[in-house]
Amino acid sequence: MAMLLMTPKSKSDSWVKHLRAQDPGLDLRVWPETGQTDEIEFILCWKHPLGELKKYRNLKCIASLGFGVDHILRDPDVPPGVPIVRLVDASMIHAMSEYILTAILHHTRQFDLFQQDKSRKMWQARRPLHPQNVRVGIMGLGHLGVDAAQKLRLLGFPVSGWSRTLKHIEGLTAWTGPDALEEFLSQADVLVCLLPLTRETQGILNRRTFARLPAGAYIINAARGEHLVEEDLLSALDSGHLSGACLDVFREEPLPESHPFWNHPRITITPHIASLTDPRTVAPQLVENYRRVRSGLAPLHVINIETGY
Ligand code: NAP
Ligand code: GLV
Repeated sequence: MAMLLMTPKSKSDSWVKHLRAQDPGLDLRVWPETGQTDEIEFILCWKHPLGELKKYRNLKCIASLGFGVDHILRDPDVPPGVPIVRLVDASMIHAMSEYILTAILHHTRQFDLFQQDKSRKMWQARRPLHPQNVRVGIMGLGHLGVDAAQKLRLLGFPVSGWSRTLKHIEGLTAWTGPDALEEFLSQADVLVCLLPLTRETQGILNRRTFARLPAGAYIINAARGEHLVEEDLLSALDSGHLSGACLDVFREEPLPESHPFWNHPRITITPHIASLTDPRTVAPQLVENYRRVRSGLAPLHVINIETGY
Protein backbone atom coordinates (compact mmCIF):
# COMPACT_ATOMS: atom_id res chain seq x y z
CA MET A 1 0.00 0.00 0.00
CA ALA A 2 1.32 3.46 -0.87
CA MET A 3 0.55 7.11 -0.15
CA LEU A 4 0.54 9.63 -3.00
CA LEU A 5 1.19 13.33 -2.55
CA MET A 6 -0.44 15.65 -5.08
CA THR A 7 0.60 19.18 -4.32
CA PRO A 8 2.31 22.05 -6.15
CA LYS A 9 5.98 21.12 -6.80
CA SER A 10 7.24 24.06 -4.73
CA LYS A 11 5.65 22.57 -1.60
CA SER A 12 6.45 18.88 -2.02
CA ASP A 13 9.90 18.81 -0.36
CA SER A 14 8.55 20.12 2.92
CA TRP A 15 5.65 17.65 2.84
CA VAL A 16 7.96 14.72 2.15
CA LYS A 17 10.29 15.74 4.98
CA HIS A 18 7.57 16.06 7.60
CA LEU A 19 5.61 12.97 6.52
CA ARG A 20 8.78 10.86 6.52
CA ALA A 21 9.68 12.21 9.96
CA GLN A 22 6.47 10.55 11.20
CA ASP A 23 7.23 7.25 9.50
CA PRO A 24 10.61 6.75 7.82
CA GLY A 25 9.38 3.53 6.20
CA LEU A 26 6.43 5.22 4.48
CA ASP A 27 5.95 4.26 0.81
CA LEU A 28 5.37 7.87 -0.22
CA ARG A 29 5.16 8.79 -3.89
CA VAL A 30 5.07 12.31 -5.26
CA TRP A 31 2.79 12.96 -8.24
CA PRO A 32 3.37 12.58 -11.19
CA GLU A 33 5.90 9.85 -10.20
CA THR A 34 3.13 7.50 -9.08
CA GLY A 35 4.66 4.09 -9.85
CA GLN A 36 1.96 1.38 -10.18
CA THR A 37 -1.32 3.28 -9.77
CA ASP A 38 -3.02 0.19 -8.29
CA GLU A 39 -0.70 0.38 -5.28
CA ILE A 40 -1.97 3.83 -4.28
CA GLU A 41 -4.51 3.59 -1.50
CA PHE A 42 -4.22 7.01 0.15
CA ILE A 43 -3.97 10.38 -1.62
CA LEU A 44 -3.03 13.71 -0.06
CA CYS A 45 -4.04 16.60 -2.28
CA TRP A 46 -4.46 20.33 -2.71
CA LYS A 47 -5.96 21.57 -5.97
CA HIS A 48 -5.12 18.37 -7.87
CA PRO A 49 -5.56 18.16 -11.67
CA LEU A 50 -9.27 17.43 -12.28
CA GLY A 51 -9.97 13.89 -13.45
CA GLU A 52 -6.78 12.52 -11.86
CA LEU A 53 -8.34 10.82 -8.80
CA LYS A 54 -10.40 8.37 -10.82
CA LYS A 55 -7.21 6.67 -12.08
CA TYR A 56 -6.49 4.97 -8.73
CA ARG A 57 -8.65 1.87 -8.59
CA ASN A 58 -7.67 0.80 -5.05
CA LEU A 59 -8.05 4.20 -3.41
CA LYS A 60 -9.30 4.00 0.21
CA CYS A 61 -9.06 7.61 1.34
CA ILE A 62 -8.58 11.13 -0.07
CA ALA A 63 -7.10 13.67 2.35
CA SER A 64 -7.31 17.43 1.85
CA LEU A 65 -4.14 19.35 2.70
CA GLY A 66 -6.35 22.16 3.95
CA PHE A 67 -9.47 22.68 6.09
CA GLY A 68 -11.65 23.09 2.99
CA VAL A 69 -12.56 20.24 0.65
CA ASP A 70 -14.19 22.31 -2.12
CA HIS A 71 -11.01 21.87 -4.19
CA ILE A 72 -11.62 18.10 -4.14
CA LEU A 73 -15.39 18.16 -4.64
CA ARG A 74 -15.14 20.41 -7.68
CA ASP A 75 -13.69 17.39 -9.50
CA PRO A 76 -16.68 15.68 -11.20
CA ASP A 77 -14.70 12.41 -11.22
CA VAL A 78 -14.09 11.95 -7.50
CA PRO A 79 -14.38 8.16 -7.05
CA PRO A 80 -17.73 7.43 -5.36
CA GLY A 81 -17.68 5.84 -1.89
CA VAL A 82 -14.08 6.79 -1.08
CA PRO A 83 -14.01 8.72 2.24
CA ILE A 84 -12.71 12.30 2.01
CA VAL A 85 -11.02 13.75 5.09
CA ARG A 86 -10.14 17.32 5.99
CA LEU A 87 -7.55 18.79 8.33
CA VAL A 88 -8.36 19.91 11.86
CA ASP A 89 -5.38 21.62 13.45
CA ALA A 90 -5.19 23.75 16.61
CA SER A 91 -2.47 26.05 15.31
CA MET A 92 -4.42 26.74 12.11
CA ILE A 93 -7.52 27.49 14.16
CA HIS A 94 -5.52 29.89 16.31
CA ALA A 95 -3.99 31.54 13.22
CA MET A 96 -7.43 32.18 11.73
CA SER A 97 -8.70 33.74 14.97
CA GLU A 98 -5.62 35.94 15.03
CA TYR A 99 -6.38 37.05 11.46
CA ILE A 100 -10.02 37.86 12.25
CA LEU A 101 -9.04 39.77 15.40
CA THR A 102 -6.37 41.71 13.49
CA ALA A 103 -8.84 42.65 10.75
CA ILE A 104 -11.50 43.76 13.23
CA LEU A 105 -9.11 45.76 15.40
CA HIS A 106 -7.58 47.37 12.29
CA HIS A 107 -11.13 48.51 11.46
CA THR A 108 -12.23 49.59 14.95
CA ARG A 109 -8.93 51.41 15.68
CA GLN A 110 -9.24 53.11 12.26
CA PHE A 111 -5.72 52.25 11.10
CA ASP A 112 -6.66 52.86 7.45
CA LEU A 113 -7.50 56.47 8.27
CA PHE A 114 -4.27 56.92 10.24
CA GLN A 115 -2.35 55.59 7.25
CA GLN A 116 -4.04 58.20 5.04
CA ASP A 117 -3.31 60.90 7.65
CA LYS A 118 0.34 59.84 7.65
CA SER A 119 0.61 60.26 3.89
CA ARG A 120 -0.52 63.88 4.43
CA LYS A 121 1.65 64.34 7.57
CA MET A 122 -1.56 65.03 9.43
CA TRP A 123 -1.69 64.66 13.22
CA GLN A 124 -5.33 63.95 13.98
CA ALA A 125 -6.67 62.09 17.01
CA ARG A 126 -9.50 59.73 16.08
CA ARG A 127 -11.59 58.00 18.68
CA PRO A 128 -11.69 54.21 18.22
CA LEU A 129 -14.97 52.36 17.89
CA HIS A 130 -15.58 50.75 21.27
CA PRO A 131 -15.80 46.92 21.13
CA GLN A 132 -19.05 46.97 23.11
CA ASN A 133 -20.67 48.96 20.30
CA VAL A 134 -19.44 46.76 17.46
CA ARG A 135 -21.60 43.67 16.99
CA VAL A 136 -19.74 40.92 15.16
CA GLY A 137 -21.73 38.33 13.20
CA ILE A 138 -19.89 35.17 12.17
CA MET A 139 -21.21 33.08 9.29
CA GLY A 140 -20.15 29.50 10.06
CA LEU A 141 -19.79 28.18 13.59
CA GLY A 142 -17.41 25.32 12.87
CA HIS A 143 -13.85 24.76 14.01
CA LEU A 144 -12.84 28.27 12.92
CA GLY A 145 -15.97 30.29 13.66
CA VAL A 146 -16.38 29.14 17.26
CA ASP A 147 -12.77 29.84 18.21
CA ALA A 148 -12.84 33.31 16.65
CA ALA A 149 -16.16 34.02 18.41
CA GLN A 150 -14.75 33.05 21.80
CA LYS A 151 -11.64 35.20 21.37
CA LEU A 152 -13.69 38.19 20.22
CA ARG A 153 -15.91 37.82 23.30
CA LEU A 154 -12.82 38.08 25.52
CA LEU A 155 -12.07 41.47 23.93
CA GLY A 156 -15.59 42.66 24.72
CA PHE A 157 -17.27 42.38 21.30
CA PRO A 158 -20.90 41.20 21.30
CA VAL A 159 -20.79 38.17 19.00
CA SER A 160 -23.46 36.23 17.17
CA GLY A 161 -23.13 33.33 14.79
CA TRP A 162 -25.06 31.66 11.99
CA SER A 163 -24.90 27.98 11.14
CA ARG A 164 -26.89 25.28 9.36
CA THR A 165 -27.82 23.34 12.51
CA LEU A 166 -28.71 24.68 15.96
CA LYS A 167 -25.81 25.57 18.30
CA HIS A 168 -25.67 26.39 22.01
CA ILE A 169 -22.44 28.21 22.73
CA GLU A 170 -21.96 30.16 25.93
CA GLY A 171 -21.91 33.92 25.48
CA LEU A 172 -22.93 33.72 21.84
CA THR A 173 -26.24 34.48 20.16
CA ALA A 174 -26.69 31.67 17.66
CA TRP A 175 -28.95 31.78 14.59
CA THR A 176 -29.81 28.79 12.46
CA GLY A 177 -30.71 28.24 8.83
CA PRO A 178 -31.95 30.40 5.93
CA ASP A 179 -35.03 31.64 7.82
CA ALA A 180 -32.88 33.32 10.47
CA LEU A 181 -30.38 34.83 8.05
CA GLU A 182 -32.02 38.25 7.67
CA GLU A 183 -32.34 38.78 11.41
CA PHE A 184 -28.78 37.64 11.97
CA LEU A 185 -27.53 40.08 9.33
CA SER A 186 -29.57 42.99 10.64
CA GLN A 187 -27.52 43.04 13.85
CA ALA A 188 -24.00 42.53 12.42
CA ASP A 189 -21.83 45.66 12.32
CA VAL A 190 -18.97 43.43 11.20
CA LEU A 191 -19.81 40.39 9.09
CA VAL A 192 -17.21 37.60 9.05
CA CYS A 193 -17.49 34.75 6.54
CA LEU A 194 -16.04 31.44 7.76
CA LEU A 195 -18.34 29.14 5.81
CA PRO A 196 -17.27 26.18 3.69
CA LEU A 197 -17.85 26.64 -0.02
CA THR A 198 -20.87 24.52 -0.98
CA ARG A 199 -23.86 24.71 -3.34
CA GLU A 200 -25.78 26.59 -0.60
CA THR A 201 -23.08 29.07 0.36
CA GLN A 202 -21.70 29.99 -3.06
CA GLY A 203 -22.28 33.72 -3.70
CA ILE A 204 -23.79 34.24 -0.24
CA LEU A 205 -22.00 37.57 0.20
CA ASN A 206 -24.19 39.37 -2.30
CA ARG A 207 -26.30 42.48 -2.80
CA ARG A 208 -29.26 41.13 -0.77
CA THR A 209 -27.01 40.11 2.10
CA PHE A 210 -25.28 43.50 2.17
CA ALA A 211 -28.61 45.36 2.05
CA ARG A 212 -29.69 43.60 5.29
CA LEU A 213 -26.62 44.74 7.20
CA PRO A 214 -26.72 47.94 9.25
CA ALA A 215 -25.40 51.03 7.43
CA GLY A 216 -21.61 51.31 7.77
CA ALA A 217 -21.09 47.55 8.22
CA TYR A 218 -17.66 46.04 7.55
CA ILE A 219 -17.05 42.72 5.72
CA ILE A 220 -14.35 40.13 6.34
CA ASN A 221 -14.09 37.16 3.99
CA ALA A 222 -11.48 34.59 4.99
CA ALA A 223 -13.36 31.56 3.64
CA ARG A 224 -13.43 31.30 -0.17
CA GLY A 225 -13.48 33.84 -3.00
CA GLU A 226 -16.58 32.22 -4.52
CA HIS A 227 -18.62 33.22 -1.46
CA LEU A 228 -18.43 36.82 -2.63
CA VAL A 229 -20.20 38.46 -5.57
CA GLU A 230 -17.43 40.92 -6.28
CA GLU A 231 -19.47 43.53 -8.23
CA ASP A 232 -22.02 43.62 -5.39
CA LEU A 233 -19.28 44.39 -2.88
CA LEU A 234 -17.97 47.23 -5.02
CA SER A 235 -21.48 48.71 -5.41
CA ALA A 236 -22.20 48.46 -1.68
CA LEU A 237 -18.87 50.14 -0.84
CA ASP A 238 -19.25 52.85 -3.46
CA SER A 239 -22.81 53.66 -2.37
CA GLY A 240 -21.46 54.18 1.17
CA HIS A 241 -23.66 51.43 2.66
CA LEU A 242 -20.60 49.35 3.61
CA SER A 243 -17.64 51.04 5.28
CA GLY A 244 -14.93 48.64 4.12
CA ALA A 245 -13.84 45.08 3.58
CA CYS A 246 -10.91 42.85 4.40
CA LEU A 247 -10.48 39.99 1.93
CA ASP A 248 -8.09 37.04 2.13
CA VAL A 249 -9.61 34.91 -0.64
CA PHE A 250 -10.62 35.65 -4.22
CA ARG A 251 -12.42 34.06 -7.15
CA GLU A 252 -9.15 34.15 -9.05
CA GLU A 253 -5.91 33.65 -7.10
CA PRO A 254 -3.45 35.29 -7.42
CA LEU A 255 -5.72 38.32 -7.78
CA PRO A 256 -5.11 39.61 -11.35
CA GLU A 257 -3.18 42.86 -11.62
CA SER A 258 -6.09 44.57 -13.41
CA HIS A 259 -8.61 43.71 -10.67
CA PRO A 260 -10.48 46.77 -9.29
CA PHE A 261 -10.01 45.56 -5.69
CA TRP A 262 -6.30 46.44 -5.81
CA ASN A 263 -6.96 50.18 -6.10
CA HIS A 264 -10.01 50.40 -3.87
CA PRO A 265 -9.20 52.58 -0.86
CA ARG A 266 -11.54 50.72 1.46
CA ILE A 267 -10.54 47.15 0.64
CA THR A 268 -7.71 45.46 2.50
CA ILE A 269 -6.19 42.54 0.59
CA THR A 270 -4.15 39.62 1.91
CA PRO A 271 -2.98 36.77 -0.36
CA HIS A 272 -4.85 33.76 1.12
CA ILE A 273 -2.65 33.65 4.22
CA ALA A 274 -5.25 33.88 7.00
CA SER A 275 -4.40 30.37 8.14
CA LEU A 276 -1.68 28.54 6.24
CA THR A 277 -1.26 24.78 6.41
CA ASP A 278 2.00 23.90 8.12
CA PRO A 279 3.25 20.42 7.07
CA ARG A 280 5.08 20.16 10.41
CA THR A 281 1.95 20.43 12.55
CA VAL A 282 -0.42 18.42 10.35
CA ALA A 283 1.84 15.54 9.27
CA PRO A 284 1.02 13.53 12.43
CA GLN A 285 -2.74 13.50 11.74
CA LEU A 286 -2.22 12.61 8.07
CA VAL A 287 0.02 9.67 8.94
CA GLU A 288 -2.36 8.62 11.71
CA ASN A 289 -5.20 8.52 9.20
CA TYR A 290 -3.07 6.50 6.83
CA ARG A 291 -2.39 3.99 9.61
CA ARG A 292 -6.07 3.83 10.50
CA VAL A 293 -7.06 3.13 6.90
CA ARG A 294 -4.36 0.46 6.58
CA SER A 295 -5.68 -1.30 9.69
CA GLY A 296 -9.27 -1.16 8.48
CA LEU A 297 -10.41 1.64 10.85
CA ALA A 298 -12.49 4.60 9.71
CA PRO A 299 -10.31 7.69 9.20
CA LEU A 300 -10.74 10.81 11.37
CA HIS A 301 -12.38 14.05 10.17
CA VAL A 302 -14.39 12.53 7.34
CA ILE A 303 -16.56 15.08 5.55
CA ASN A 304 -20.18 14.60 4.61
CA ILE A 305 -20.37 14.30 0.86
CA GLU A 306 -24.07 15.32 0.90
CA THR A 307 -23.55 18.66 2.65
CA GLY A 308 -20.18 19.21 0.97
CA TYR A 309 -18.15 19.94 4.13
P1 NAP B 1 -16.40 23.51 9.55
O1 NAP B 1 -15.79 23.09 10.85
O2 NAP B 1 -16.83 22.48 8.59
O3 NAP B 1 -17.63 24.46 9.88
C1 NAP B 1 -18.44 25.00 8.90
C2 NAP B 1 -19.54 25.84 9.54
O4 NAP B 1 -20.33 26.42 8.50
C3 NAP B 1 -20.49 25.01 10.41
O5 NAP B 1 -20.88 25.73 11.54
C4 NAP B 1 -21.68 24.78 9.47
O6 NAP B 1 -22.92 24.60 10.14
C5 NAP B 1 -21.71 26.11 8.74
N1 NAP B 1 -22.43 25.98 7.48
C6 NAP B 1 -22.19 25.15 6.44
N2 NAP B 1 -23.12 25.29 5.48
C7 NAP B 1 -23.98 26.22 5.93
C8 NAP B 1 -25.17 26.79 5.41
N3 NAP B 1 -25.66 26.42 4.22
N4 NAP B 1 -25.81 27.71 6.15
C9 NAP B 1 -25.34 28.08 7.36
N5 NAP B 1 -24.22 27.57 7.92
C10 NAP B 1 -23.55 26.66 7.21
O7 NAP B 1 -15.40 24.47 8.75
P2 NAP B 1 -14.12 25.22 9.33
O8 NAP B 1 -13.07 24.26 9.66
O9 NAP B 1 -14.56 26.17 10.37
O10 NAP B 1 -13.64 26.02 8.01
C11 NAP B 1 -14.51 26.85 7.26
C12 NAP B 1 -13.88 27.22 5.92
O11 NAP B 1 -12.82 28.16 6.12
C13 NAP B 1 -13.18 26.08 5.17
O12 NAP B 1 -14.12 25.28 4.49
C14 NAP B 1 -12.26 26.85 4.21
O13 NAP B 1 -12.95 27.11 3.00
C15 NAP B 1 -12.00 28.17 4.94
N6 NAP B 1 -10.59 28.29 5.34
C16 NAP B 1 -9.87 29.35 4.88
C17 NAP B 1 -8.55 29.50 5.26
C18 NAP B 1 -7.73 30.67 4.82
O14 NAP B 1 -6.51 30.68 5.02
N7 NAP B 1 -8.33 31.69 4.26
C19 NAP B 1 -7.95 28.56 6.11
C20 NAP B 1 -8.71 27.49 6.55
C21 NAP B 1 -10.05 27.37 6.17
P3 NAP B 1 -23.17 23.33 11.12
O15 NAP B 1 -22.29 23.60 12.34
O16 NAP B 1 -24.58 23.43 11.44
O17 NAP B 1 -22.73 22.12 10.38
C1 GLV C 1 -7.24 27.03 3.30
O1 GLV C 1 -7.78 27.79 2.59
C2 GLV C 1 -7.80 25.83 3.85
O2 GLV C 1 -8.90 25.43 3.43
O3 GLV C 1 -7.15 25.23 4.73
